[in-house]
Amino acid sequence: MKIGIDKMAFASTDQYIDLTELAEKRGVDPNKYTIGIGQDRQAVVPPTQDIVTLGARAAQKLLTPEIARQLSTVIVATESGIDNSKASAIYIKHLLGLDDYVRTVELKEACYSGTAAVQFARGLVTLNPQESVLMIAADIARYGLNTPGEVTQGAGAVAMLISANPHVLAIEPTSVAYSRDVMDFWRPLYATEALVDGKYSTNVYIDFFKNTLARYQQRTGRRLADFAGIAFHLPFTKMGKKALEAVLQGRNDEVANRLRAQLTASQTYSRQVGNLYTGSLYLSLMSLLQNGQVTPGDRLGLFSYGSGAEGEFYSGIVQPGFANYLSDVAHDLAGRRQVTVAEYEQLFNGQLGMREDDVQFDTQADGAPFVLAGQKDHQRIYQRQ
Ligand code: CAA
Repeated sequence: MKIGIDKMAFASTDQYIDLTELAEKRGVDPNKYTIGIGQDRQAVVPPTQDIVTLGARAAQKLLTPEIARQLSTVIVATESGIDNSKASAIYIKHLLGLDDYVRTVELKEACYSGTAAVQFARGLVTLNPQESVLMIAADIARYGLNTPGEVTQGAGAVAMLISANPHVLAIEPTSVAYSRDVMDFWRPLYATEALVDGKYSTNVYIDFFKNTLARYQQRTGRRLADFAGIAFHLPFTKMGKKALEAVLQGRNDEVANRLRAQLTASQTYSRQVGNLYTGSLYLSLMSLLQNGQVTPGDRLGLFSYGSGAEGEFYSGIVQPGFANYLSDVAHDLAGRRQVTVAEYEQLFNGQLGMREDDVQFDTQADGAPFVLAGQKDHQRIYQRQ
């Protein structure tokens, strides 16, 4: 029985900053951001948006009444949790009006947990093939104003339906997970911004990619030539290039050039949004499917990485008609509004603080379907508009 990704949808905020403008304000050569890091634009998050509103917005795009009836479980993968106890999946399930007889849970292991959610969902669907799992990877990547990580911030959510007889990607049985206790990036409970050993984190990422790919190749006997393309977790688009080049080792043959071209196609959307943490690999997959040379029957590789650290390499086979089961990301990105760096800084500082209560936000200015209206009695208040 084939099990895999049946439908995919993406949502981000409606505002962005231009990174050339940010570079000028920070006194940095814009080429460092657009070429050295490989980012052009970055999603800006108003205080009325968080992982719940973004996750619900993405999921809403793929739900129909029939799909909603088949759901057994909603899994939210995130490292931007809004509560230390209650799962964001419960808020999202409520906002979407899903049936109460649905399991709801949140998963964490930095940017990797989106892939853990996919693997758990596969297990659930294997047990009950007539049911589907809604998996949502939602995050807000925050490093702080004027930090080296600032250019690699971003925000958004990817929602995926995991089902039997999938329409997008049938996941193959072999996957290789690899984890080690590493301090490359973390966020203590009292912090709203990540702490990171940036250069070290890029080296660990490459190391984990090489390890998982090598073990996958050993187990399956497959070579790089067997992949039509590889989608990477993209904390910034240059990271994917660094990882791919580490295994191509200067090769310039047809296979190497094909993988390079497909990598470029997979980076299109991340360049415009920034790091989605858990959702980043899956936005990269959507970008490859919508902008690359992909035909049904192709095998795609997927490399997932989460600091701390955990990596996983797995693969899937593209299914007939896949293009009809993806939300229109290019259209959504084209509809965003550019804000100035000053506006971005104000919105960045206006996010709900860790110990703030009795806060009411002006939701009028936010045209998104779901908003965070504020917090009262230590309870977040969400609205559907
Ligand atoms: N023109 C073109 N390129 C330029 C340039 C210019 N004028 N000036 C600099 N560059 C290049 C540099 O040569 C460098 O390229 P290489 O890495 O290929 O050598 C690149 O721009 C970055 O410049 P720096 O080396 O000076 O790096 P930095 O100190 O600005 O920090 C960073 C870069 C480490 C990525 C930092 O942004 C950061 O810490 N980001 C957050 C951490 C992160 O994303 N880590 C990724 C792996 S961890 C992970 O994947 C999990 C996750 O999501 C967080």
